[in-house]
Amino acid sequence: MENRTDKWIAAGDQVLMPTYARFPLVLERGVGATVTDVEGKTYLDFVSGVAVNALGHCDAKLVKQVQAQAETLLHVSNLYYNLPQIELAKILVQHSFADKVFFCNSGAEAVEAAIKLARRYAKEKMPGERFEIITAKSAFHGRTLAALAATGQAKYLAGFAPILPGFQQVLFDDVDALAKAVNENTAAVLLEPIQGEGGVQIPKPGYLAAVREICDEAGILLILDEVQTGIGRTGHLFAHQATEVVPDIMSTAKGLGGGLPIGAILAKDVVASVFQPGTHASTFGGNPLVCSAGLAVLNRLTQSPAFLEDVREKGQNLLQTLKTFQSQCPLITAVRGRGLMIALDLTIPAAEVIDAALSKGLLLNRTSEKTLRLIPPLTIQQQEIDQMVHILFEILKAKL
Ligand SMILES: Cc1ncc(COP(=O)(O)O)c(C=O)c1O
Repeated sequence: MENRTDKWIAAGDQVLMPTYARFPLVLERGVGATVTDVEGKTYLDFVSGVAVNALGHCDAKLVKQVQAQAETLLHVSNLYYNLPQIELAKILVQHSFADKVFFCNSGAEAVEAAIKLARRYAKEKMPGERFEIITAKSAFHGRTLAALAATGQAKYLAGFAPILPGFQQVLFDDVDALAKAVNENTAAVLLEPIQGEGGVQIPKPGYLAAVREICDEAGILLILDEVQTGIGRTGHLFAHQATEVVPDIMSTAKGLGGGLPIGAILAKDVVASVFQPGTHASTFGGNPLVCSAGLAVLNRLTQSPAFLEDVREKGQNLLQTLKTFQSQCPLITAVRGRGLMIALDLTIPAAEVIDAALSKGLLLNRTSEKTLRLIPPLTIQQQEIDQMVHILFEILKAKL
């Protein structure tokens, strides 16, 4: 007899565009760091919606706040002010370099807004005709057309020509390459402080500071894409806050809504002020419902330093455990990470490990053929980390 999973997958495949290579898994509910499928099987979730469910699934306080907001006001146009949007912007400003916030609905939209803001700023405030944005190879900035052009990787661009002009890619973590690329057309540099989809690539200490210096000398903007690294993922509210470096514009999204779709860009007044009425807008951006979720997330992350300390500590311990295991397991060639954003390079296809983990009730994710990525909810419990480690090591030992 056909089970519920097969039925739902057949129904889905009939009506959904085939953009995703999905696992044969139909998820129905979640609580904390676990999700349950339509067969009633529960999985430990080390993917968390790709770094989205910062507080885990169905966090009681977040749900309560969203429920209360849903009963009060779901949506109003940005022709008017709404309370959760103002409150969320206030917290973001209070805990960042920025003076002003613009809300949108996703990471790619945040990157689009950042690009538009940089171009507009260059047009109004920089001498000459500056429009070009320098980005990094192996970056990921999203799937909309400008974000794709910024991403600049052939595998994502194939079939979508003509590509938006005005972008140039240089090697990530290479100061000289960046310095050489700056020219009279350059308006900005756009980087992830740690490349997420690129495989949790952490630049050498001092790289961001050197980039900041290059930008300052050339009189161009530094845009940091913290869509993945932001909202506590690396153990700091924003990854760049672990350094002295301050961007001119920052994009963020993913964890910000704790599972509801929201993105944002943040900037200092001097930059933000070039966005005047009519220059940029979003129908849903900063709507009261998603902002109430954002408030629940940010209140939890910022109310006491203990929350982010705990993320750093759990991440550090996990990193150490993985490194110790690496010394006994030749299938692992590298382990790296910050906070709860950790990658393992393998000598075998990561998909094999992911499939084996799935059958053992663990959701894992990969960023490339041989790189596994661990991005659990920030609220993951130590005992759940131990459980993940036990399953992962068991799988890898069996493949030795
Ligand atoms: C650094 C970065 N920027 C932008 C994006 C795009 O975000 P979204 O999928 O919400 O459009 C992602 C998504 O993975 C990302 O990691």
